[in-house]
Amino acid sequence: MNLLNYGLLPKMKPLAPRRSAIVAALDIGTSKIACLVARLRPIPPQDVLRRRTHVVEIMGFGHTSAGGMKAGAVVDLAAAEEAMRNAIDLAESMAAVQIESAVVSLSAGRITSELFAASVDVAGAVTGDDIKRVLAAGSHNSARDGRVVLHSLPLGFSLDDAHGIRDPRGMLANRFGFDMHLVSSDIAPARNLMLAVERCHIGVEALVASPYAAGLSVLADDEDDLGAALIDLGAGTTTTAVFSAGRFVHVDSFAVGGHHVTMDLARGLSASVPDAERIKTLYGSVIAGGSDERDMISVQAMGGDEREPPQLISRAVLTRIVRPRVEEILEMVRDRLGHSSFAAEPRARVILTGGASQLTGLPELAARILGRPVRVGRPLGLSGLPEAARGPAFAVAAGLLVYPQAAHLEHFEARRTRQLKTGTGGYFTRVGRWLRESF
Ligand SMILES: Nc1ncnc2c1ncn2[C@@H]1O[C@H](COP(=O)(O)OP(=O)(O)OP(=O)(O)O)[C@@H](O)[C@H]1O
Ligand SMILES: [Mg+2]
Repeated sequence: MNLLNYGLLPKMKPLAPRRSAIVAALDIGTSKIACLVARLRPIPPQDVLRRRTHVVEIMGFGHTSAGGMKAGAVVDLAAAEEAMRNAIDLAESMAAVQIESAVVSLSAGRITSELFAASVDVAGAVTGDDIKRVLAAGSHNSARDGRVVLHSLPLGFSLDDAHGIRDPRGMLANRFGFDMHLVSSDIAPARNLMLAVERCHIGVEALVASPYAAGLSVLADDEDDLGAALIDLGAGTTTTAVFSAGRFVHVDSFAVGGHHVTMDLARGLSASVPDAERIKTLYGSVIAGGSDERDMISVQAMGGDEREPPQLISRAVLTRIVRPRVEEILEMVRDRLGHSSFAAEPRARVILTGGASQLTGLPELAARILGRPVRVGRPLGLSGLPEAARGPAFAVAAGLLVYPQAAHLEHFEARRTRQLKTGTGGYFTRVGRWLRESF
């Protein structure tokens, strides 16, 4: 059965709380691919970051530049496959395991949020059966034309007109429902990404929205509670996830990122794209410094005579090229966040991840434009993470390893009822855990 035809993606089997597991993560970006393999080992509750049940011990890491990708989507299947294989091979040989499946990130496909409510009539007190019926009603309605559901997270149950009820079992109502946060993307980019991964003989455990994954790895507990917007500034995409009272409540994305800054520089300086990229990462800044007019950088003009002396560009000129595009990106984020629940949470802060968050002065500029405290986020609480993977560009990859611990928060379809009744303790046990831990 091809779940994609139903607008449903594979949902990850929740991690057993007291069992170890080996998990692989694949973050396939526009500019780079990161593959991580880790052992997830259960730890005593008092030792963990509050929402984590397992410690993540990195066993393998592979990192290569991406191929065949544009704006977070596969545009050349063979090139994408080859680049993925390289990253996977590196991680496999370091970990000395063979990867059979992976948790995979998605940034493309116009990822957006939708709030969704489903309800059913009940006769008297709400029973486990009513919960099953209302969840099933929600799952069936969640497939929309050309869109695929990545995440379905509970916001609360409702009894008649009362919303936000944690555990409705045994309570009385005429109509019983639930409110849900649905995250969806266009089908084609999701399907093609899965196809590319499957061509490497790797099964896709789950597709996770990139900024949600980044949030899982970099947010501290208090940020999660007070509210936070995670902005992942990638090469081809900028994606945002909003967290409120410990829950993932909103997501948004658009296809502009650090690569556009590089292209502006290449045009502005008549330099090649690789030169522009190098200049940007070495000297790129969005804030003016005191000596910028005098501080000169040498740039070789593209197609120019090698014997010609390189042109000298001041840092101030560089900043004048870089800054407008970064402002445009941040203003787009601000305007879009203005329509989300983030706008109503004045104490919520902003955390930046992604390679492009490393531009000098970005937190200051972002704080000014977004009107909130801003910091750059790095993966938290993973042991054995290699130095090369500790920066903000690896927040998504690291978060994919945390995701299995959060997978139980999502409701998944009880389509194959017989199979669900065995194994992890049966459907009702799981819904019970979902009820206890979701709210
Ligand atoms: N030190 C740096 N200063 C400024 N920009 C940087 C720096 N290092 C990397 N970048 C930029 O970060 C971007 C890559 O970020 P990242 O690795 O998060 O993207 P990606 O995951 O490949 O892309 P996407 O998530 O958009 O598909 C590139 O545009 C790169 O130029
Ligand atoms: Mg990325």
